[in-house]
Amino acid sequence: MTGLQTSALEQDIAKAQRVLGHRNLVFVGLMGAGKSAIGRLVAQMLEIPFIDSDHEIERVSRMTVPELFEAYGESEFRALEARVIKRLLKTGPRVLSTGGGAFMNDVTRASVLANGLSVWLKADLEVLWMRVSKRDTRPLLQTANPKQTLSDLLDQRYPVYEKADVTVQSRDDAREIIAAETVAAIAQLYSGQEKVPTA
Ligand code: S3P
Repeated sequence: MTGLQTSALEQDIAKAQRVLGHRNLVFVGLMGAGKSAIGRLVAQMLEIPFIDSDHEIERVSRMTVPELFEAYGESEFRALEARVIKRLLKTGPRVLSTGGGAFMNDVTRASVLANGLSVWLKADLEVLWMRVSKRDTRPLLQTANPKQTLSDLLDQRYPVYEKADVTVQSRDDAREIIAAETVAAIAQLYSGQEKVPTA
C-alpha cells in the first residue's frame, strides 16, 4: 500500500468511528456473505470489539445452532436470536455480525435500524454457494437441493436486506479489500456534525 492510500484509509477509519459513535455496526446478509470474516477485520480497523450473534446464542444456550434447531425448531431459535440481539445492541460501539435470518425479524430489524448502523454484505448466489457448500453446518440448507434453497432465500431476503443503511458488494476478493470498502462506505455517511465519541 502506498503512503497516499494508507492515509486515505486512515481518514476513512477516523470518519467511520465518528459516524458510528457508541452504536453497534451490524453486519447482515445471507449465509456465506462473509459477515464474520469481514466483520472481524472491520472491528480491528475501527479498534472496537467484535461479537457474533450466533456465537453468543451458542454461549448462552450451551448448544450449537444445529442442536438448537434440532431440539427446539426454528421458531424457538428465532425467539432466542431476537432476545440476544436486543441485548447486544444496548452496548457499543462494537461490530456485531448477525445470523442470516436475524434482520428478517421485524422487531430485530426495527431495533437494528433505530439503534445500530447496518451493513448489508451482498453477494451473488455462486459466491455464496461456493462458500456454504464446503460445510454442512447450516440447518436451513439440509434440503434435497440446498443450492435451490439458497437461491430461494436470496429471492425472499434481498428486498429486506436492502433496508440496511449501507450495502457493500462481497465477492471472491481479498477480505482486506472488502473490509476497507466497508469502512469507506461508512465514512461516506460522515457529515462533519458528529460528536467525537467519549468513553
Ligand atoms: C441462518 C444463518 C446462520 C444461522 C442459522 C440460520 C439463516 O448464520 O444463524 O443457521 O437463517 O440464514 P450465518 O448467516 O452466519 O451462516
